[in-house]
Amino acid sequence: MGGFLGRDILSIADFSRADIEHILKVADDMVVDPHKASERSLAGRILATVFFEPSTRTRLSFESAMKRLGGDVVSFGGLEGSSVAKGETLSDTVRMVEAYADAIVLRHPQEGAARLAAEFSSKPVINGGDGAGQHPTQTLLDLYTIWDELDTIDGRTVAFVGDLKYGRTVHSLALALCNFDVDLYCVAPPTLQLPGYILSQIKERGRDVKTANTLEELVKDVDVLYVTRIQKERFPDAAEYAKVAGSYRIDLDMLREAKKHMIIMHPLPRLGEIAPEVDRTPHAKYFQQAQNGVRVRMALLSLIFGVIP
Ligand code: CP
Repeated sequence: MGGFLGRDILSIADFSRADIEHILKVADDMVVDPHKASERSLAGRILATVFFEPSTRTRLSFESAMKRLGGDVVSFGGLEGSSVAKGETLSDTVRMVEAYADAIVLRHPQEGAARLAAEFSSKPVINGGDGAGQHPTQTLLDLYTIWDELDTIDGRTVAFVGDLKYGRTVHSLALALCNFDVDLYCVAPPTLQLPGYILSQIKERGRDVKTANTLEELVKDVDVLYVTRIQKERFPDAAEYAKVAGSYRIDLDMLREAKKHMIIMHPLPRLGEIAPEVDRTPHAKYFQQAQNGVRVRMALLSLIFGVIP
């Protein structure tokens, strides 16, 4: 298992199964309930949240995690309020932010931005999503959710549905699941299948991904249905987006043959890909999944700052 003290969190591919299992166990022990005494183990530490793209869950759950551990947070109040609006480069921005904080969470539209930032920062950089690349901390909370809801990750059948080309959460989760004994399926329009470089990495890890044309033919066999939004903002051409927008929707009818314990996950935000009536079924775990982000990010921050070995 790799040490976590001072470590950058850039790609889920940098994590072994032992690393992942350690984080999940630490996350399980975190005290999130405000009515119970929580350790203020990060008092005096400052986390910078530097977001060049919109976010609700990643940013707020990191800020909540840091504050629940007694630490503090600094952030841009929107890019227009920072010197990025004057044209400051990412590398100069990172050089400055590392002078004001002890770790940096970065979200950026460009793939590889977090890795670049890490080259310019002596403080740990956490990738909060880099374009269509990776979202490793989302993956850790996704794995936590599967483990917490189904007791084991091994032996499960996971189906990815939606925008598998641009969906960074799928890229990270598919690679992470290669550490486990799982069956992976993809259901996506032909233009939104998993990129070749992700398929190659899955193959290098000795795993395989099967494709299905429709979810209906697969749903009865699935333990985890991982649904994603079509990432409109990543399409170079609006006409291409229009061709695939609204091309799938999970509704009650589709779930009639699902296993009783099957869980539906979604990194959120959702548009129309999961009908609101699905929220009331025991399958719907996407809001709990987002909530799990706090304990998982508390665990990660505790490990990076070395208050937990
Ligand atoms: N899952 C996720 O990354 O959500 P946000 O874009 O709201 O952070």
